[in-house]
Amino acid sequence: MTTVSISTAPAAALRTDAVVIGVAKGPKGLALAPGAEDVALAYDGDLVELLRALGMTGAEGEALRLPAPASAKAGFVLAVGLGDAVDDGPYDAEALRRAAGVAARALSGIDTAAVALPALSVDAVEALTLGSVLGAYAFSAYRASADRTAPVGELLVLTAPEGRTAAVAAVTRAEVIGQELNRARDLVNMPGNDLYPESFSAMVQSVGQTYGLQVEVLDETALADGSFGGIVGVGQGSASPPRLVRIAHTHPEARTHLAFVGKGITYDSGGISLKPVGFNEIMKRDMSGAAAVFAAVVAAARLGLPVNVTGWLALAENMPSGSAVRPGDVLRMYGGRTVEVLNTDAEGRLVLADALVRASEDTPDAIVDVATLTAAMKMALGHRIFGVMSNDDAFRDCVLDAARRAGEEAWPMPLPAQLLTGLASQVADIANSGERMGGGLAAGLFLQEFVPTGLPWAHLDIAGPAFNEGSPYGYTPRGGTGSAVRTLIALAQDAADRPPHAADAGGQR
Ligand code: BES
Ligand code: MN
Ligand code: ZN
Repeated sequence: MTTVSISTAPAAALRTDAVVIGVAKGPKGLALAPGAEDVALAYDGDLVELLRALGMTGAEGEALRLPAPASAKAGFVLAVGLGDAVDDGPYDAEALRRAAGVAARALSGIDTAAVALPALSVDAVEALTLGSVLGAYAFSAYRASADRTAPVGELLVLTAPEGRTAAVAAVTRAEVIGQELNRARDLVNMPGNDLYPESFSAMVQSVGQTYGLQVEVLDETALADGSFGGIVGVGQGSASPPRLVRIAHTHPEARTHLAFVGKGITYDSGGISLKPVGFNEIMKRDMSGAAAVFAAVVAAARLGLPVNVTGWLALAENMPSGSAVRPGDVLRMYGGRTVEVLNTDAEGRLVLADALVRASEDTPDAIVDVATLTAAMKMALGHRIFGVMSNDDAFRDCVLDAARRAGEEAWPMPLPAQLLTGLASQVADIANSGERMGGGLAAGLFLQEFVPTGLPWAHLDIAGPAFNEGSPYGYTPRGGTGSAVRTLIALAQDAADRPPHAADAGGQR
């Protein structure tokens, strides 16, 4: 595992395998970023010319290794691009996270490195640490050890002596968030033959115990006895029975209670409405919402946030078999409402409906669900942006703002009431699929039917960004990305800092 600490030593004096410096796109071309001064001196002032000659422009994503100058003790220098140069004031936290991520990826297999990127504030130290921990991530559990390249070992973030205690705390905080986000990535990357509802819930129990969280698991018998028709219905076609997991972080000084609900389909074959080849290869990703919720609750506990956070993981495997739910079957959901299953591949909303109703019973102040819910949302927003739908405009803005600050791309999507008519059923209260156009919004409208009126609720459809099918970039690896983890943690942090949107609700609640 990659570890991060801070140091005030000058970069050129450190005996490390590598020193990372930043370059940026200035008005007159390539420019060195703050932090690189010391290293530049050791090159006798020729460093910028050298980097230009080697083709660097300072653009985000660039990384180039240089032999270290003779006077330096480091093995080599790694220059990484920060994008547009910043004249006055700090570099944007996301630019720092991405550059640190690029550096950490370029340093895999290296033991020690000094990070001489612009660490001019405590926030910058936190961003550089988080970017490093996330960029260093590798999923190698299923490879022969000979094929593995170890993540970079030890990173020293070089920073000014001011506020050392705060900087150390920022490093710890970023390490916790990075480790938990990486835990979510591991779960997403784990194949369906090893991660199924029972093994997932066992993992939640053991991690929950480690960090003092309260964990309760409803198994298939308890789910049937409790009338959780959605989770039971989706899970009944699989040889691996479903689970509903509740994981709770409570704090004696909490003034706010948040509920997070995650879609945890450990593999989505589509069921009897089977997905064709070309659409079923990476459906192990379909538990990304549950992984994000799990990681965020554990992070809230490890950070000791003064807020109560209850996570709900709706775990099932969606498989076709003689016992599977059929198109046309009617399920009686938790709480008593009935759903006609017209398409067994619209299973996420079925498990989430049960979990949303159950989560609401604990009377949280707000509820957020996270799900790889629709291909339509992936079509609409692409691979990097998740959609945010809500029954409450002010709360939706809180979620979007938390995402932006956390470095995640999110975009508001509407819940146009007229689309609900597309989900009308001839026999039940509602159908689980219907009109294809606006499918991501219809899914949101379906979920909204299971949220009590007056309870602020947001739905995050992470079908696009949950899994990176392309090349790595910034601190984002191939495969599971940990989408929504940082947004959920930021929401928990915000709720700890102040009651739910107290600042803008104007006494509405
Ligand atoms: N898990 C899928 C959505 C998905 C697709 C996530 C691709 C990530 C990548 C979901 O269960 C699903 O199959 N949704 C259907 C719903 C439809 C049948 C109403 C869809 O979006 O096509
Ligand atoms: Mn599906
Ligand atoms: Zn699904």
